[in-house]
Amino acid sequence: MKYNFPITRTTTPKAKPDPDTLRFGQLFTDHMFIMEYTTGKGWHDGKIVPYAPLQIEPAAAVFHYAQEMFEGLKAYKSKDGRVLLFRPDMNAKRTTSTNERMCIPHLDEELMVEAIKAVVNVDKDWIPEKKGTSLYIRPFIIADEPFLGVRPSDHYLFMVILSPVGPYYEGGLAPTKIFVEDDFVRATPGGTGFAKIGGNYAAGMKSQEKAHEKGYEQVLWLDGVERKYVEEIGTSNAFFKIHDEVITAPLSGTILPGITRDSVINLLKQWGIKVSERRLTIEEVFEAGKQGKLIEMFATGTAAVISPVGELSWKDEKVVINNGEIGELSQKLYDELYGLQIGEVEDTLGWTVQV
Ligand code: COI
Repeated sequence: MKYNFPITRTTTPKAKPDPDTLRFGQLFTDHMFIMEYTTGKGWHDGKIVPYAPLQIEPAAAVFHYAQEMFEGLKAYKSKDGRVLLFRPDMNAKRTTSTNERMCIPHLDEELMVEAIKAVVNVDKDWIPEKKGTSLYIRPFIIADEPFLGVRPSDHYLFMVILSPVGPYYEGGLAPTKIFVEDDFVRATPGGTGFAKIGGNYAAGMKSQEKAHEKGYEQVLWLDGVERKYVEEIGTSNAFFKIHDEVITAPLSGTILPGITRDSVINLLKQWGIKVSERRLTIEEVFEAGKQGKLIEMFATGTAAVISPVGELSWKDEKVVINNGEIGELSQKLYDELYGLQIGEVEDTLGWTVQV
């Protein structure tokens, strides 16, 4: 083995949760991975230790100028007992591009994947096996040098924590109601929209709150320049099936390059379904809705998997999609992706990685 991370095991293991009551991101396993970066020395001292609070100075750079990044992926246990990760190399690649944008030092992609595998292996008994549950993996990097000047930090922590989870939306696969935001914007060209950073999510909370007050679960973002083109949904990418074409926004720098997004595009192409990465106006979506041509809409994400949308609201208009029910394509994509992830569907693309 190329990497050998020392392991300190907890002396006070926690009770495993009841899989029937699991929600998203509320419980954490017994261990975590932690590694330091020091300028002049590089990344060093990667190890697995008991999950515990950090000791960190109030002056740590991350608290003041938000120099940080995060990732998200899931581990599953197959019926024959294998522990599987889904396309972890893609998370490592995205980490490289986020780090580059945020002036965070490069983290070797192979090392990142090996660190994830190592900590998942230690806590593999925490992987819930009930349908729709998984072990959510949250790798992240924070700048923890104590200083108040604005410049890249000279010290960082890379950590991986693990959380047994149920569905991201409480309703599971039940179609969500989405509110189109045309006041606030999430990203503009040249900004950080493509990077997986907390700041993008913090800036979206105001709109999410507004959507909740109006009875909607999430926000559909429009482009930040003309507020005309659909971009992404709160915590996931957005897909629209209009007539016989499935459309999603192109990766032009303002949307997150989702791994589920990429997987869905690949599957649709494999199935011979017309899929386009192109700009799509919100007018076109509502026009298609009025003409009965908006067949389905769904969100994709690691946390959300495939999440059908049953209603869209924009200004004073509303469109109900597929009678507010799960569409055929959304269900088929969910079954295929989840089947691949848990090792039930044959993986001809080499997407699953055994721990
Ligand atoms: C994920 O889907 O893994 C994400 O990172 C979204 C998160 C806000 C739950």
